[in-house]
Amino acid sequence: MKIAIASDHAGYDLKVFVLEHLKGRGVTDIADLGPDTNKNSVDYPDYAKKVSQAVIDDEDCLGILICGTGIGMSISANKVKGIRAAHASDPYSSKMARRHNDANVLCIGSRVVGPGLAFEIIDSWLDAQYEEGRHQKRIEKIEALEG
Ligand code: RB5
Repeated sequence: MKIAIASDHAGYDLKVFVLEHLKGRGVTDIADLGPDTNKNSVDYPDYAKKVSQAVIDDEDCLGILICGTGIGMSISANKVKGIRAAHASDPYSSKMARRHNDANVLCIGSRVVGPGLAFEIIDSWLDAQYEEGRHQKRIEKIEALEG
């Protein structure tokens, strides 16, 4: 499993916790695409773009994006063709985002959820599998919306 992860300044502290959690889960192939400090204000679309590109470039790679609410990251990532970014604040939603929506990017709000809940949200998403079947034609309709 490969994971590309990034945040903005608001999400940086949670990103550091999440990196440790991912390593604890045994994920060895992690690309931290920044930033490497929370000292400077940065723009979340820049980091959404980096992670989205990593996911598009490698179909085995999933993305995690963290900003204050998770909303700016999800709006930005979903502008990238081929990205299905799910903004989740609970483990049920993140699980279903993978099972039904084949979400390849997960967005979390650091000002909304604490580290413990964030870990559950991430684990539910990573442990779930896309169910295909009836969901596939819906994914194809999403792709048709991309033009
Ligand atoms: C930064 O203050 C904040 O706007 C950003 O982290 C995010 O919440 C935007 O959606």
